[in-house]
Amino acid sequence: MTQTPDRPSTDLGLHVQGEAAQLNPVADKAQLFDYRQAANPIRSGLTEPIPYRCWGADLHSSGPSGILPLDLSSELGTSGPATSPGLAAHFIRIEAGEGVRAAASATSSLFFVLSGEGVCRVRETDQDTTIRWSEGDLFVLPCGGTPLLEATSTSVLYWVHDAPLLHYLGALPSEPRFDATHYRGAWLRSELLKLAEQPGSASSNRISLLLANRDLPSTRTVTHVLWAMYGIVPPGATQAPHRHQSVALDLIIDCQPGVYTLVGTELNADGSIRNPKRIDWEAGGAFITPPGHWHSHVNESGKPAYLLPIQDAGLQTHLRSLDIRFA
Ligand SMILES: [Fe+2]
Repeated sequence: MTQTPDRPSTDLGLHVQGEAAQLNPVADKAQLFDYRQAANPIRSGLTEPIPYRCWGADLHSSGPSGILPLDLSSELGTSGPATSPGLAAHFIRIEAGEGVRAAASATSSLFFVLSGEGVCRVRETDQDTTIRWSEGDLFVLPCGGTPLLEATSTSVLYWVHDAPLLHYLGALPSEPRFDATHYRGAWLRSELLKLAEQPGSASSNRISLLLANRDLPSTRTVTHVLWAMYGIVPPGATQAPHRHQSVALDLIIDCQPGVYTLVGTELNADGSIRNPKRIDWEAGGAFITPPGHWHSHVNESGKPAYLLPIQDAGLQTHLRSLDIRFA
């Protein structure tokens, strides 16, 4: 029996079973949809598209110690805090001498230190992990334990984890897939500068390091779910657009006014983005690049700009669904 036309648009094409199904409780929730009307459920009111969104550094520049979620759960229709369907990003502000527990039911937690110094401790029954961090450091933790972040000087960290993905799956993390790993800021900076000084880099506007882990040779990503890139956009750069099916939760580490990202869903014949939205960068700010959207970074500031996009590209690579393309 096809539903009557006065059904909500999200139910278009819904077929329900006859009265016989009411006598069979195992059949009670079975539905069928007409493929021609229901093939793409990503639409407003059903599976919400991922919106553009920016957060400024004022969110974490003052205030008491605490976790500041970049939460779009009401827009995305997820039942727990989420910045994208699979990932949750936060700022963590910790006053000197204080501590914050970063609890999440996640397979992967990534922390980047925007400012300050301190110690991360994770206590487990068979192993203790201690990471002493300072500005510019990045570290990743697998599932297990609840990290305690204690600041020796007032600190701000960017924290991304995959608890929304596990919540959607109805799964609990059980087995670490990688060891806790610390990427020191001094090492990241010196390797990026070496890259920038290589012959050919002057004419390239893609100078970036992909963070990888010996435990994850096939995806070459920072965890088996998360992907992280430490990059510089040189002054005068206008990157050719690219796109990928991973979502990007972009953190701007440092920049001057005049750096921005153009983003949109289609390209013009000349390879530029059609009717792009401009997202201006701010040091210590963050923004979302939705999956599949073309994007291009532009630096008109006269100074180098530094960014750290975090994506679910470890997972997308494993699924062979990353589909990265360049204009
Ligand atoms: Fe990208």
